[in-house]
Order: sequence, then structure tokens, then C-alpha cells
Amino acid sequence: MSNYQSNWQNWQNDPEGFWAEAAASLVWTKPWQQVLDTSTPPFYRWFVGAETNTCYNCVDRHVDEGRGEQAALIYDSPVTDTIRTYTFSELQTAVARFAGVLAGLNVTKGDRVVIYMPMIPETAIAMLACARIGAIHSVVFGGFAAEELAKRINDAAPRVILSASHGIEPNRVVEYKPLLDEAIAHASSKPEHCVIFQRDNSNAKLVAGRDLDWQQAVNDAEPAECVPVAATDPLYILYTSGTTGVPKGVVRDNGGHMVALKWSMENIYGAVPGEVYWAASDVGWVVGHSYIVYAPLLNGNTTVMFEGKPVGTPDAGVFWRVIEQHKVTTFFTAPTAFRVIKKEDPDGKLLSQYDTSCLRALFLAGERADPDTIQWAQTQLQVPVIDHWWQTETGWPQAANPLGLGLLPVKHGSATVPVPGFDIQVLDETGRSLPSGKTGALAIKLPLPPGCLQTLWQDDERFVDSYLSEFPGYYATADAGFIDEDGYVHVMSRLDDVMNVAGHRLSTGGMEEVISNHQAIAECAVLGVKCEIKGQVPVGLAVLKTGTDITEAQLEKEVIAMIRHDIGPLASFKVLRVVKRLPKTRSGKVLRGTMRKIADGESYPMPATIDDPAILDEIATVLSTVNVD
Ligand code: COA
Ligand code: AMP
Repeated sequence: MSNYQSNWQNWQNDPEGFWAEAAASLVWTKPWQQVLDTSTPPFYRWFVGAETNTCYNCVDRHVDEGRGEQAALIYDSPVTDTIRTYTFSELQTAVARFAGVLAGLNVTKGDRVVIYMPMIPETAIAMLACARIGAIHSVVFGGFAAEELAKRINDAAPRVILSASHGIEPNRVVEYKPLLDEAIAHASSKPEHCVIFQRDNSNAKLVAGRDLDWQQAVNDAEPAECVPVAATDPLYILYTSGTTGVPKGVVRDNGGHMVALKWSMENIYGAVPGEVYWAASDVGWVVGHSYIVYAPLLNGNTTVMFEGKPVGTPDAGVFWRVIEQHKVTTFFTAPTAFRVIKKEDPDGKLLSQYDTSCLRALFLAGERADPDTIQWAQTQLQVPVIDHWWQTETGWPQAANPLGLGLLPVKHGSATVPVPGFDIQVLDETGRSLPSGKTGALAIKLPLPPGCLQTLWQDDERFVDSYLSEFPGYYATADAGFIDEDGYVHVMSRLDDVMNVAGHRLSTGGMEEVISNHQAIAECAVLGVKCEIKGQVPVGLAVLKTGTDITEAQLEKEVIAMIRHDIGPLASFKVLRVVKRLPKTRSGKVLRGTMRKIADGESYPMPATIDDPAILDEIATVLSTVNVD
């Protein structure tokens, strides 16, 4: 029997009381005067007047309450053959010391710190150290190239940047330091200092006067104490892709964020303090922020920081090895990881070599979980496989099967039910609510619950334009789907030019901006095409300038290099085709959606305003030569 309905009802009856009760399990240095400030819609603020410290609640609190000797963080790195455990006491010492490094560089409350680092414990330590002194961190995923990093540096204007000599991918070492130097050279906003972690005694070149050696700086630093911050003060900025090449800086607060994450650990994930919780993602993404670093620590769980891949480090059994070795009870990853394991080990031969009986449930998110993958995972692991839906903007799941409240019947293909706090509606183009079973835009009635984005960094106007103006009174998720007769949410696709590559959110518009810089290209379109493993991958179509003399193969090679250089390898851009022209509406809008359907072999209605329908046949012929699997 699930307590979901009664929780949903409690929240509906008294939303402020519901979240105030959840907040009581955290430590506040000053109580709130108002649970929710609704005085300036569409901006809402949670726990106004309260003061707290996120780092204290994640780390020091557990030491004070007797969990000092419990493992807080297990670093498991098959790419360096390392396993290292930090207890809460050890984590407290390391975080306090690093906070001292930042304080020594004059970083204070409200200053920004950009973190461009691999999946090593120092990255989590750096994030918590920022939280400790009230600095706002902005983590940039290591697979982004210098130009993308420069965009984020310009927007966040950090006082200090934290980085490492290199990251380690299964097939190569990624030298971060030259990328960082290039980004800083291109950025108009320059940091005062960079602190560089030299991995494995490497010797990345430091810039005199600007760069500090991490270890040396730690040795020289005094520990710094937790600084009380307002619940509404920003904890971090996390950039995510929109429809253009300009990333959106999602701002998350301190107070609401803690309340939401802590509630989710108990009620959605069913995690009990002391247990081992593992989110196999990267701290560069929202999953990593919420469920590698903050949520497990807030809840007194041990978190696993895994520096490896589901396959190839060394094989498709590595997930099972980690689960057995560290006694993981709750596991979270993206469906793409399971698709790649299923491809390599379809019969689960490697799984049979490990004892994964400690595992209670597998959670999947980041992209639509196809029923095949869910069924395969469930058959192999013999635990509930729970698809749940969320976004960088919401920061925690808006629809889930709440294990902690008691599981509801599973429907494969659905992210199950709206989480208390999220009044999800399906709207038509005019903003009218659609009946059950009808597909439309998925929107969430305002105010959003604690933990969701407050605004976009220094851009309230873009925040309102991007999310709140299409359907007044609602947050537009940019996802399409339907809610069935049992109230289950089915998320089907994105409504905008954003694609999802191996659980990574990328902008097709951003790629088009890069490709159109090629001197031979007159215009182009990038489509997110279905891929068996990665969900979607980009395919570029280019129209050449008249009189240009370049082969398709050469152009493809050059464009791939441009995307790798300007956006990064994670874009997985591998295919470009030359076409004579692009299909457009009579008003000149490129028909990307129709082309994507052609590429995916789906039927499509003939666009009413297409200027020349014959172009679609030409495009279909070209796309029929593309194989992305
Ligand atoms: N730093 C530098 N480069 C990185 C990187 C990082 N942190 N992460 C990925 N890259 C590079 C990869 O090396 C690869 O480069 P290549 O083109 O030279 O081979 C490229 O970016 C694409 O990476 P990826 O999308 O990870 O593809 P892959 O083929 O290496 O691995 C999967 C495919 C499915 C195994 C992998 O995407 C995966 O583990 N996904 C898990 C899902 C996940 O973590 N999602 C996050 C949201 S929950
Ligand atoms: P990101 O902001 O990178 O986390 O990406 C968020 C987007 O990923 C959402 O808007 C969806 O398009 C997609 N997504 C995440 N989780 C799911 C899910 N469980 N089912 C379907 N799509 C999902």
C-alpha cells in the first residue's frame, strides 16, 4: 500500500505546511519568517528570512551528530585503478581546508567560482567548500571544449577557477589545462586566480601570478568555518542548453534546494541514512549536483563517485562490481548506460559473476526510458526499475514512482505520477488543459516547489521569456506528453530544438551556429536522429555556397573538427551530408521536425506551407544513406 495519495493530498491541502514540515529535518541558524513569498509573481521565494549553510547540513552536521566515522564518499576509479574512502570527519577536514584556500584568495559570499574538473573527490570537495563560505559555484562538464567554457566564464564572471591537469577517458587523456588557458584567453571576463589539481604528479604548466598548485595551496591554508547564508541566496549556477548557442545559467538557492533534496531521498528514493547511494553520472550535470553530491550527503548516506564508463572500464560488468563491492542499495543512471551494457552482455553473463543482492532499486532518468531497456534491466537485476522525469531546471524529479512512500504499480513507458509539489498539466497551444490521454505541452502550475530554479543568472527577463510567458501561471517544461486515465505521466519528446545525446542535453541551434561558420557552407540544419545506444545523435545537413569546390568527405571532416573544438567531443557529431537545399515553410522557417521524422522513418503530415514538397524526397534519399547505430 502506497502513501503517495495521502502525501499528495497533504501537499494540496497545505503546501506551505507540507514544506515547512520537510524543512524541520534540517539545521537552520535562523528560522524563516515566511515559508513562501508570493509577493512578486512570477518570482517565488522559499523560506524567506531563514539562514543556513548547505555544507554544514551535508558534512559538519553528521560529524556533530555522531556519524563522523561513517563513509561519506567513496571514490571508485577504474580508469586509475583507485578506490579511496572519505569518512564524514575526513570530508569535513578536507572541505574546511579547501574553503580556507578560497577564502585566502579573497573569495567571499556571492563570489562565483567556476569548477572545470574530472570525476575526482576534489571536485565534490570544491563544491562543498564554495557552499561553506557562501560562494556560488558553477561546474562545467569536462567534455565541453574551450569555447563553451569561455561562454560560461563570461556569464558567471568568476573570481577564481578550479581545474585539474587532466581528465581520463577510456581511450585517451584529456588535457584540461590547455583548454582552460584557451578559454581564459578568449573570455572577456578574467579570473584573478586558478587553482590547479595536478593529477598523478603531472606537471601542467602554471601561469605565474595567476595559477596556484592545489596541493600546495591546501598545505598553506587554514580551515574555514561555515558561513550562514540566506535560504534564498544562490548556491550554484548550472548552465544548460537552450535552443540557441547561448547557455542558460540555472540558479539554485540554498534553503529550498536542501529541503527538496532531503525530502526526495526519503520519499522518492527510499534511502535510509547510512546506506550507500550511487548515481553513475557526472558532477557536470544536474544529476551529479543533486544526487552525487548534495542529496546523499544531506541525508547521511554514503555517496559513490565513479570515474569510469558502463563499458570498457574494463568491461560491461563494472556496474555490478561497484554495487557488490560497496554494497550499493540505491542505484541511479541514464537508460543509455543500460542500452550499452545490454548490447555488450545481452545475456547478463558478467552480472552472474557478482552478488548484487544488496540493491533495492534502479532509478533511470535523463532521457525517455524505452520499455525494452527497462524490462531487460528488471529481468537481469530482479529489482524495481523506476523511470523518473526531471530537468536541470527543476533539479529533482517532477514525476516518479515514489519508492519511499510505497511503490505504485509500474507502467513501462511512463515516469509514473507527479511528485507532491508539482501540479503537472497537459496544455494545448492556447494554454487550455487537455483531457487524459491527449498529448500536449507538459507544464507545471506555479509556484514551483522548493529546489527548482529561481531565475537565470542575471537574466530575469530570459527566465520569464523562456519558461513562464508561453502559458501564464505555468512553468513550460518544453517536453510534450500526456497523462493517462490513472494519472500517470508519459513524457514523449522535446518541443524545442534541444536533443538528448546519451543523456546529455545539447542544442541543435548551437551546433548550427558553429557549422555555419564554415566558409563553404551557405546554410545548414542539425537534426537529433534516433540512435540505438545514445537515444539521439546529431546529423548535419549543409547547403554549399555556389561555386564552392570541396568534397562531402572533406567538408564532413572539417565540420566534425569544428564541433569538437567549439562545443566538445560530447556532442558526438559524426555525420554531415551535403544537400542541394533545405525544406522550408513559405515564410522561410526550416522544417527540422519534418526532416527528423523522415530520418527516424516515421510518418509525417505534409507541411501545409512548404514551398516545394519535392525537396522532402531529396532529403529522404540523402538521409537513407545515414546509419548512426
Ligand atoms: N571529458 C572529456 N571528454 C569526455 C568526457 C569528459 N568528462 N565525457 C565524454 N567525453 C568524450 C568521450 O571521450 C567521447 O569522445 P570521442 O568522440 O573522442 O570518443 C565523446 O565525449 C562522447 O562521449 P559519450 O557520449 O560519453 O560517448 P561514449 O561513446 O564515450 O560513451 C556511453 C557512451 C553511453 C557509455 C556514455 O555516454 C555513458 O556512460 N553515459 C552514461 C549516462 C550519463 O552519465 N548521463 C548523464 C546524465 S544522467
Ligand atoms: P537535463 O536538463 O539535461 O536533465 O535534460 C532534461 C530533459 O531530459 C527533459 O526535458 C526531457 O526531455 C529529458 N528527460 C529527462 N528524464 C526523462 C524521462 N524520465 N523521460 C523522458 N524524458 C526525460
